[in-house]
Amino acid sequence: MAFSFLYHLLFVKKYVPLLKIILKNNRTMNQANKLTQVPETMLITLWAKATENNHPKPLLKDPKAAEIISKIDYDFSKFKKASFSQAGVCIRASLIDKQAAAFIKAHPDAVVIQLGAGLDARYERLGCPEVTHWYDLDLPEVIALRKQCFTETDRYSFLAMSLFDDAWMHLITAFHKPILVIVEGVLMYFDRQQVQAFFKKLCQELSQPTTIVMDILAYSLVGHAKNHDSLGAMQKNDRPEFKWSEKESQLIEQWHPYLHLDKEYFMSDYNQGRYPFIFRVLYKLPYFYKRFNQRVVQFSIVKR
Ligand SMILES: C[S@@+](CC[C@H](N)C(=O)[O-])C[C@H]1O[C@@H](n2cnc3c(N)ncnc32)[C@H](O)[C@@H]1O
Repeated sequence: MAFSFLYHLLFVKKYVPLLKIILKNNRTMNQANKLTQVPETMLITLWAKATENNHPKPLLKDPKAAEIISKIDYDFSKFKKASFSQAGVCIRASLIDKQAAAFIKAHPDAVVIQLGAGLDARYERLGCPEVTHWYDLDLPEVIALRKQCFTETDRYSFLAMSLFDDAWMHLITAFHKPILVIVEGVLMYFDRQQVQAFFKKLCQELSQPTTIVMDILAYSLVGHAKNHDSLGAMQKNDRPEFKWSEKESQLIEQWHPYLHLDKEYFMSDYNQGRYPFIFRVLYKLPYFYKRFNQRVVQFSIVKR
């Protein structure tokens, strides 16, 4: 009797909850290790943002990325030479943070959706804005991980589906509020036909005023994932290819009469001396500037 009581007190009450926490954290680790192809690339952007916290003059602050990375059992050391990507991811995220903050300031009742959100903590970085709703969408295996790292609330939740699924478009349109769609580090992995069809669909399905903030890969990188400093460090069979870019962002306007390019930022203009010296020199040449620069762009869907 006394033994059973002691057993219950010590084991069931104390150690079982502890074991549950350990098992839950291990699950996060194991699931991350199983990711390959585009889902695995979210570990690169997570690593880049977590690492930036240790920089004396950080391009962005992301304590949540540092917290999450400490729970993930993945060999991040393979990216240690990827200083170009590391700075690039943070320049991109910081530019998009500013665009998103400006949009939310102008439209406090907005519905925001990030497509291919990975483990990104933009909602936290922007101070958990009191928008109508903020969705972070990604494939089911990524959302399963995300749920272990972030807490959903009545105004912040996750969607486990593909960005090509119409269901999210119907969901956000039903709010009848201004819409902000963020797609960061994602579209470069799909071919032009898929990206074009996707934009067409957005123009058809999103009826309210919609703003899209996204990046466009450096044009010269298409077909060269293996030469990229961070993707090149992934296992050959797990590495996705860079499939899409446009030399001119304006070309996207031709895909649908509703599409309008509002803003374009060439990322080398914001590198604050962080890109390798040779690239900083080369970016001064117009030919190189255009073809080797990643861009952050803002489009609006304007029904005419
Ligand atoms: C490079 S990560 C970018 C993550 C995040 N946007 C960031 O910047 O940290 C690419 C993300 O796209 C997601 N992804 C790939 N295919 C997708 C699809 N069809 N629908 C939604 N997300 C997708 C991957 O799972 C991954 O999380």
